[in-house]
Amino acid sequence: METRSIRGFHDVLPEDAKRWHRVEETAKAVFELHGFSELRMPVLEFTEIFARSLGTTTDIVEKEMYTFADRDGSSLTLRPEGTAGVARSYIENSMWAKSPVTKIYYTGMMFRHERPQKGRYRGFYQIGAELLGPEEPASDAELISMVWNILEGTGITKYLTLEISSLGDGICRPQYKEKLVAFFAPERERLCEDCQRRLETNPLRILDCKVKGCSEIASRAPRMIDSLCADCASHFAEVREALDSAGVPYVVNPGIVRGLDYYTRTVFEITTGELGSQNAVAAGGRYDGLVEELGGPRTPAVGFAMGMERLILLHQAAFPEGFGREISVFIAHMGEEARKRAFRLASELRGLGISTEMEYGGKSLKSQLKRADKSGARLTLIIGEDEIRRGVVKVRDMDTGKEDETTEINPGLEIAGRLGGK
Ligand code: HAM
Repeated sequence: METRSIRGFHDVLPEDAKRWHRVEETAKAVFELHGFSELRMPVLEFTEIFARSLGTTTDIVEKEMYTFADRDGSSLTLRPEGTAGVARSYIENSMWAKSPVTKIYYTGMMFRHERPQKGRYRGFYQIGAELLGPEEPASDAELISMVWNILEGTGITKYLTLEISSLGDGICRPQYKEKLVAFFAPERERLCEDCQRRLETNPLRILDCKVKGCSEIASRAPRMIDSLCADCASHFAEVREALDSAGVPYVVNPGIVRGLDYYTRTVFEITTGELGSQNAVAAGGRYDGLVEELGGPRTPAVGFAMGMERLILLHQAAFPEGFGREISVFIAHMGEEARKRAFRLASELRGLGISTEMEYGGKSLKSQLKRADKSGARLTLIIGEDEIRRGVVKVRDMDTGKEDETTEINPGLEIAGRLGGK
């Protein structure tokens, strides 16, 4: 047997976990500031949920989903994204009946069978949020500025550009589609096989095609943003105005198409020049028809997701020194009695909220002190026969190298006091 992980899947190693926690905690704190609560969803849904939500002619649904038959024959899919699951849960749990505004965030692993490369995995983590209920532009602007605040909080906005656009709605998009078909039809023979098919099934997807010939033709195609109806145009103008007033920097990029079919009106991507072709760190937009499409009441909504691995790559660039483990105390000991004493003291210190590690077995003092040094502890406590006899604990300050002894009856409280004073 070859012991290895599946291609496109990866571990987040303990030495990197702190960085992940920092980013996750920043995101959660900002979510709370905006009144969002966490929803934990299953990683598996009925395939139909994703096919209906993302669109049957999107790359994700056509080529990238991990889909398999359950034992009873029903088709299940590992979630490629979070929005469809949120919409399913929103309907199933009648969240719409409880409040006119529902604010949800989620974190977790998503699965897409893409070609792996730097910043692109088959199993990757997203943090995302969905704001369901309102359709006013202020909700788009709140969500987008929330995403920007999270990225600011992680200290990486110097690498980022926020791009926004509008994809119109059920009134102006069908007319735009007709314009697109009229534009692409004479070029039909020069399009790739997939796009020739898309011309009939979903012409908007041609704009997202990565084949060079297609993208060249697409760059000359009419743009949705020039075809917005009056309502969509004023909605988009108000989103921009609200972003301006919140001081969120953005550029309008009419070339944003998004790889999912559920979007209406506002769409956005936060991109970077640091990660090669995998340039989107976060993305999202409005999806006013999705909840209804899945059988719920008409519910406008807007949301986003960011790719944790891409964010972490930028975080590493911004803070290369990393984040070490933080341990306050290491206890070294010599002799059977001292080991028992060390064990009791370690429990006591942890009970006082002080992170503590100790040697388990009977290693030499030298090797224990080596481990203490590596642990990054601020204080090392040393207990030997002499200390046991005299009822004290030797304390070494790891920053200064100075050693002395505890003086109080209760060394736990004394150690806590010393750490507090440092
Ligand atoms: P998405 O653009 O498909 O949107 O993905 C959002 C982010 O997830 C991307 O910008 C990227 O950072 C990350 N990502 C996507 N695929 C991969 C991959 N293979 N490897 C690593 N990172 C990846 C959505 O998923 C929508 N659900 C966002 C949304 C929420 N729209 C409305 N609400």
